[in-house]
Amino acid sequence: MTNEPDHLSPLLSAKHIEASYDESLILRGVTIDVQASSVVALLGRNGVGKTSLLKSIMGLMPNCTGEIILNTERIDVLRPDQRARRGLGYVPQGRDIFPNLSVQENLEVSLSISGKAGKDDLDRVYELFPVLRDMLSRKGGVLSGGQQQQLAIGRALLINPKLLILDEPTEGIQPSIIDRIEDAIHALKKQGDISIILVEQFLDFAKAASDKFYVMDRGKVVESGDSVNLNDEIIQKHLTV
Ligand SMILES: Nc1ncnc2c1ncn2[C@@H]1O[C@H](COP(=O)(O)OP(=O)(O)OP(=O)(O)O)[C@@H](O)[C@H]1O
Ligand SMILES: [Mg+2]
Repeated sequence: MTNEPDHLSPLLSAKHIEASYDESLILRGVTIDVQASSVVALLGRNGVGKTSLLKSIMGLMPNCTGEIILNTERIDVLRPDQRARRGLGYVPQGRDIFPNLSVQENLEVSLSISGKAGKDDLDRVYELFPVLRDMLSRKGGVLSGGQQQQLAIGRALLINPKLLILDEPTEGIQPSIIDRIEDAIHALKKQGDISIILVEQFLDFAKAASDKFYVMDRGKVVESGDSVNLNDEIIQKHLTV
């Protein structure tokens, strides 16, 4: 007997996800797969349900049905913190750091949650985002938006996720730091031991960084495929405003 996952089965499979706020159905039967060591771009115009899908995967949507399987285990019955411990690292849209804790304390909170991450993991985060090492004693809340985003991603990485979920990591960030974040995502992809779901409005970057894409419209997946096939027709139809 072995617990090794079947290598043909995806790392994460979300099937027939339906979710609603109050009376209105927001996700209307969404199915996506994420293979091990791959990057999936999740695309779509404002308000189509991208964030709601990520929250559903994390267990943060109040009314949600469907099956979510991580490495052959049903996780849709688990609480958000249990899903995180199973290997889901979530960086919400608009970032999520403790503004009154220092950078170092923000990172230490993640270290304490993960239990097993140590100095090597911290070094790996500093290698990706050197600015964090220079700002260890600063309060999170005084960092620039881009620095906070780097801290938020660094925190998520310290729990050693199998799947990193990034909701618009470059949104509202100055161009020079967007490059830093894009480089980090490329670097993580190259390391190859993690999968990523990337919600991203910069399509050139999303296409270059991802292996597969899904396009959502009004609570459904309307297009999907290999990212090399993300063409102008799809972009015009579902992504340009
Ligand atoms: N807390 C909430 N209560 C009620 N409705 C909500 C709530 N959050 C989102 N919605 C609605 O659910 C729909 C999907 O929102 P969601 O945030 O998932 O979209 P999105 O694709 O992530 O959009 P964006 O690109 O703007 O981030 C929208 O119509 C939005 O108005
Ligand atoms: Mg969103």
